[in-house]
Parts: sequence; C-alpha cells; structure tokens
Amino acid sequence: MRVLILGAGGREHALAWKLSRSSNVNEVIVSPGNPGMEITPKVSTEKIDWKEKELFLKNVITLKPDYVVIGPEDPLANGVADWLRGSDIPVVGPSYGAAQLEASKIFAKNFMDKYEIPTAKFKTTTKAEEGYKYLDTLDMKEGIVVKADALAGGKGVVVTHDLSKAKSTVYDFLDNQDCSISTKEILFEEMLHGKELSAFALCDGSNYVTLGYACDYKRIFDNDLGPNTGGMGGYLPQGWPSEKVKKKIDEVFKKTIDGMKSEGTPFNGFLFVGLMVLEDEINVIEYNVRMGDPETQILMPTLNVDLNEYLYKAAKGDLGQSQDISSKLKSCVHIVLTSDGYPSIDGTPLKLNNTIEYPENFNDPTDGNIHLFFAGVNKNKNNELVNSGGRVMGISAVGETTEEAKELAYTQIKNFNFKGMHYRQDIAKI
Ligand code: AMP
Ligand code: GLY
Repeated sequence: MRVLILGAGGREHALAWKLSRSSNVNEVIVSPGNPGMEITPKVSTEKIDWKEKELFLKNVITLKPDYVVIGPEDPLANGVADWLRGSDIPVVGPSYGAAQLEASKIFAKNFMDKYEIPTAKFKTTTKAEEGYKYLDTLDMKEGIVVKADALAGGKGVVVTHDLSKAKSTVYDFLDNQDCSISTKEILFEEMLHGKELSAFALCDGSNYVTLGYACDYKRIFDNDLGPNTGGMGGYLPQGWPSEKVKKKIDEVFKKTIDGMKSEGTPFNGFLFVGLMVLEDEINVIEYNVRMGDPETQILMPTLNVDLNEYLYKAAKGDLGQSQDISSKLKSCVHIVLTSDGYPSIDGTPLKLNNTIEYPENFNDPTDGNIHLFFAGVNKNKNNELVNSGGRVMGISAVGETTEEAKELAYTQIKNFNFKGMHYRQDIAKI
C-alpha cells in the first residue's frame, strides 16, 4: 500500500515511521514533509500545496495513495478531508463540520454542554464592555481563563488571577487591531485545577480505538518557566491515570462520537481530548481533531499493533468494535531539541542554518528503543541537515518503566548537537 501523510513535523515523521513498519506498506509519502524524514526506509517527501483545491486533488490523484492521513489542524479546519472524500479517496481526518470541535472553542463548549460531557463552566461575549463588567463580578482569588474563539496555535488562552491582565486580554482579543489574535467572540472559563493529560482515540464515525495517554511539557524552560511553546517533550505515564479515570475518558470518547453522529457531522479521524484530572474527577479542557505533537512521538514507538491496518479501516469507516490498543507494558519519554531564540514571542529571529550532528547509527531508526523524529530541518548545499525552524527534532526512548526510558533518553541526547541547541532537562522528572 501507498500512504500519503499531510504535514511536516515530528508528529508526521513518527506516523510515517510507524506506518513504514507495516509489512503491507510499501511507500509512505509525506507532504511537504522535511528532508530529515527520509532517513526512514520507505519514506519520501513531496511538496503538494493543499491550499488550492483543484490543484491539490489533481496532485493527490496522480500519486494514487490507498489513503491519506491529515496531520495538522489547518487543512482539517479548511475542509481538506471533505475534498478528498468527495473524490473517493479514503482519508483519516474529520470533515470541516467535525473539525469545528477544535476550530471553535464555543462550538466545543456548547457541544459538551448538550451531551453532558464534563467541562469547566463558561460564559461567552462579543463585546469588550460586557466582558469587563463580567470580570468585575468575579472573585479573582478563584482565577479566570480568557479564550479567543479561534485557532491561535496555543496563544489564544490566558489563565490568570490578575483582574487587569484579564481585562487587557479581553481588549486584545476583541478590539486591539495590533494583537496577532483576532476574534469576534471570547469565552470566560472557570479555572480548573489538577494534572493535565492528553488522551487519544482513532475514530471511524461510529466506533473508536483507544490509542493511549500522554503528558506533555509546554513551557520552554525547566520547572515550567518561560513562555509556552508548541511542546518541549513528554512521557507516557504508567499507573496513572487510574482505571476509574480511564473509564470516564472512554465515556467522553463515546459521548463525543455519538454526539457528533447525531449532529450530522460524524467524527472520522484522530480525536485528542485535553483533560484536567483531579483525583478521580475529569474535565475536558479542549478537543483537538488531530494527533498531538509531541504526543504522537511518545505513543507511536510503544504501540504494539500494525497501525496501517487500523488507519486504513478508519479511513474506510470500518473500524469494527471499539477497543483499547494502547500500550500497557512500556513507557516512552520524548525530548524536543529547539533552536536558539525559540519560541521568539517578541519576534526576534531564530538562529538557524546550523549543521546538526547526530550519530550514523541513527540513520536507520527502525529498531531498538531509541527513535529520532525530525521537524524543523533542511539541507544545506553540502547535503547536511541544518536547523530551519524552532522545534528542530526530538528523541523518543522506550523503556519498561518511565524511569528507564528517561535514563536512556538523557544518555542518548548527549550524542546530538547543533549550535544553540536547547532542551529541557526535566522531562518526566516533574
Ligand atoms: P487550550 O488551548 O484550551 O487547550 O488551553 C491551553 C492551556 O491553557 C491548557 O493546556 C491549560 O494548561 C490551560 N487551560 C485552558 N483552560 C483552562 C481551564 N479552564 N482551567 C485551567 N487551565 C486551563
Ligand atoms: N501537544 C499539544 C498539541 O499538539 O496541541
């Protein structure tokens, strides 16, 4: 089989690597991909622009994939999965309508309300004045969360105890023309407490398989200091969450899939539920309609199944009975290596084009307990890999325990280097 994956990052490299391990897969094409991915046997890259429908479909049809997997949220929120389905090309990825679960936070909150899915209490407004008045009624000791109703790459959320910060966020999101986030409507949410968890299922519109659970680290520096990033690493927890919590998460998957079906927008694709867990209680913080990055790089090396079989069935709407295929026996720790200057909140340029040194035996990372997944890389004129983005690459280490995986990851990371390379020293430690 030939599989086409849309996307360019570590998530797509990890999916491509896992699919390449299937004896039924001859070829995985990642578009646009990155040149680092080509270290993986059977994996190649091809630049296809999805932004123009007719040209995109023409290019995909020429490649003749057996099915397509859509990695990032942007093409999903623009209806690319519908275009493919409309051309009879099987696809793992929700329709435009189903992608609203991630694209519109207000859609997601109303949906959760309607289908009795546990989530923080909320209120919406389109007018800044109304927002300020509402904030004045609150006890800021409890804190407040202000969210823009737009895809904002993690920048559209402010969690604060500070009234003036909350008010200035309302102004920024609704009325400030200079703010990079612009939305017509905002949400206020009650502040939740507990430990965050990402839970993943693969859905075919009616049924699902549980892919697993992971914890990620969003801040750039150790001890959760500094600005938020696209993700600095994470791990697969063992012995947590409890079986009771897992049952509650299953309920969320089921209610979501049943609810989307009865709304007339069946959910086909990866469902990523971001949760706050406090003892045995859960609340959904957000939905994403795709796999997580770096959670994919954590789950793929530990999944003990032929992923191709499940993805193909999901694309065809034929997963069969819901089941749990998550890894119970192993753990995995993933550490992201970033460029100097990342995440560049103030817009200062990243220090790029530095040659990446990595051991030769990582050229074929198909076996063993260490895996290398590339993201922001390019090739220079000497054909060497150089850093070309903020999140450059990541190392996944598998162990019988999280402790073992962490030891392995931090020992191996010493073999990698590029000028200005940064990584967190405390992944899976706090
Ligand atoms: P979101 O984009 O909705 O996932 O929010 C980004 C991050 O903000 C989450 O990963 C949480 O760390 C935090 N967050 C969002 N909503 C809440 C909430 N209601 N209570 C506490 N933290 C939250
Ligand atoms: N790791 C969080 C995300 O992919 O959105």
